[in-house]
Amino acid sequence: MTKKILIATSNPGKLRDFAGAAKAYGIETACIPGFSSLPAVVEDGLTFEANARKKAEAYSRYAPGEIVLADDSGLEVDALAGAPGVHSARYAAPDLHNKEPHEADANTDDDANNARLLRELKNIPLSKRTGRFVCVLAAARDGKTLATFRGTAEGIILDAPRGVNGFGYDPLFYFPQIGKTFAELSAEEKAGYSHRGKAFEKLLGWCENSQECVTDQR
Ligand code: IMP
Repeated sequence: MTKKILIATSNPGKLRDFAGAAKAYGIETACIPGFSSLPAVVEDGLTFEANARKKAEAYSRYAPGEIVLADDSGLEVDALAGAPGVHSARYAAPDLHNKEPHEADANTDDDANNARLLRELKNIPLSKRTGRFVCVLAAARDGKTLATFRGTAEGIILDAPRGVNGFGYDPLFYFPQIGKTFAELSAEEKAGYSHRGKAFEKLLGWCENSQECVTDQR
């Protein structure tokens, strides 16, 4: 019997991260069946938690009785007053005439987002390029949030990319504790340090205590 957790994301980078974090616990993760054909949830919350709850609640309605996890995550840069924050996935969206980035039609390309981040930080010395990845994970069943978990990872935004693994801002995110960017780590290594790995660990602790989180599947 294998323990399996359903994840509400089609982002291959996130799925790889979750699989990397779960592996150490002998748990399998899988995308919700048919996820790509479900209507997209508009991520218009002002916080990571609001968006994670909104996604988990909406998608859990498509998997009755199952625990469904959704995460909202992003990069907060101190020198940019916390930007890109909840807008991380669409940071490179062009000027939308007073619209907020979450109102962009689609996420923007990782390379374009990284290029914008480098432009915004031009002339800011390395010592002031501190920031953190944040991940809030929400577990919901039948449209109701059961619990949320927050994980963070503190780092420095480099002025040029390093490494080819991972996704999003990973090549620019230097993690001083190990002297590497997140893009220089395997999925399992990244899970040991990352915001998503830490939030996932908290979730697993909750599962052990509440016994209502993980569904056993043959
Ligand atoms: P969302 O959680 O789907 O709204 O998207 C979060 C966005 O934040 C991603 O598209 C990435 O740009 C960025 N992000 C979140 N977590 C990570 C990570 O682990 N590595 C790199 N970028 C990340």
